[in-house]
Order: sequence, then structure tokens, then C-alpha cells
Amino acid sequence: MEGKKLNHIGIVMDGNGRWAKSKGLPRIMGHREGVKAVERTLIAAKELGIPCVSLYAFSTENWKRPKTEVLGLMGLLKYYLRIKVEELNKENARIRFAGSLSGLSVDIQEILKDAEEKTKNNDALQLIVCLNYGGRQEILDAVNKMVEKGIPVPVTEEIFRQHLYLPDVPDPDLLIRTSGELRMSNFWLWQGSYSEYYFTDKYWPDFGKPDLEMAIADYYRRERRYGKA
Ligand code: IPE
Ligand code: IPE
Ligand code: MG
Repeated sequence: MEGKKLNHIGIVMDGNGRWAKSKGLPRIMGHREGVKAVERTLIAAKELGIPCVSLYAFSTENWKRPKTEVLGLMGLLKYYLRIKVEELNKENARIRFAGSLSGLSVDIQEILKDAEEKTKNNDALQLIVCLNYGGRQEILDAVNKMVEKGIPVPVTEEIFRQHLYLPDVPDPDLLIRTSGELRMSNFWLWQGSYSEYYFTDKYWPDFGKPDLEMAIADYYRRERRYGKA
């Protein structure tokens, strides 16, 4: 598990609202522009040979936003998946979802299932979209699954990990957050405990390949010690 190779980059795509505001546009326009940044970033990740990218798209806390914004985000998600799954499939990319998916509307759950099914054998790039995702919720879901199964104590790290949403996905090596906020907002709480953090002031809709390259270069300059001397 330990090492320097970049197997998985996680991104907190933040700043869509402020990007829109700075241009005098409604927040939803920022989210729309954010979709373009997703496309750019995935192409760049593939070109740069990153095997797995996870994107924080909607948190368990984001339901606190105005109903119109939540509906707008869900609409955008449906639109994106309808159009993009075919493209991702052609690119030999696998798409998966992490989060409390049963809390999403039934039509969205169906779209997610189809996308996962259609792309499950692809292996050029793995894209994980975190939806209704919260690190605390994921940990609670794992605990509840273990209790329901009657898993005996003591529970080890390995047994616990098997009950997370996507147990086979390697921990993120690098976690990026845009928009200048210096927090993770409940992203990959368990998996990110030894990730390297990278923050940029850019708003998500302005993020692109040069920014990803800068984050990666920064990562390779770091020394990962994992508690050792
Ligand atoms: C991130 O942008 C997208 C989501 C959380 C869905 P924001 O909508 O949080 O943008 P800011 O932080 O208000 O600028
Ligand atoms: C984190 O961004 C969640 C996503 C990017 C999906 P937020 O904008 O919701 O986080 P806070 O409210 O600034 O912590
Ligand atoms: Mg935000």
C-alpha cells in the first residue's frame, strides 16, 4: 500500500458558485461550467497515466442548499451521465459511484446502475463519482453492515475496509481542493488519512490540465513517511 506511485487522485471540486458570482451569473451556470472542467480533467488524467480519479460531486451536507440548486445539480448529473457514459465507454473508462446512493431519486439510481454495468470491464481509467457522499456516513454504513452481518469482534482494519463503499479502490494518494478553502468537508475520511493534500485558489470551472500537472509535480516533491523515521 505504501509508496510514491500515483494510483488515485481525489478532487473536491469547489468554487462553482463563486466563479458564477464573480461573473454576475446564477450559481447553476457555475455548475455547468464545472462540468467542462470535469471533462478537461479526465482527459488530462488519462494522458498523464493516472489510473483512478475520484470526484466529490455532491456531499451528504449539500442537501442543505436551496431546493432549486439541488434540483439543478441533480438535473445536470442526469444530463452529464446520459451523454457521457457512451463517451467514457469508448475511452475504455470505468465509472463507479460512492455514497449513500439509496438516498438519491430512483431514476438517478437506475442511471448509475446502468453506467456501472455498461463500463464494468473497462480498464484505461477508473472514474469514481462521489454522490450523496459523506465520510462519516460511509463509516457509519460500514459499522451498520458489520453489525447486521454479526461480524465478531475484534474488527480489524482489513475487515472494516471490506465494508466501505468501494473496498477494492486504493486509498487516494493525492487529494486536491480548488477555490482556496483549506478543508476536506467530509471527503474520504477513512481512505484519506495518509493522503497528500494540495490546495489551489482557482475556482473549479477554471481548473485544467496545467493545474493537474502542477498538483502532480508537487506530489512527487513530497516525502511520504507514514510515521517512520
Ligand atoms: C462546488 O461548488 C460544487 C458542489 C458543492 C456541488 P460550490 O457550489 O460549493 O461553489 P462555492 O463554494 O459556493 O463557490
Ligand atoms: C464540498 O464542497 C462538497 C463538494 C465539492 C461536493 P462544499 O462547498 O459543499 O463544502 P463547504 O460547505 O465549503 O465545506
Ligand atoms: Mg463550496
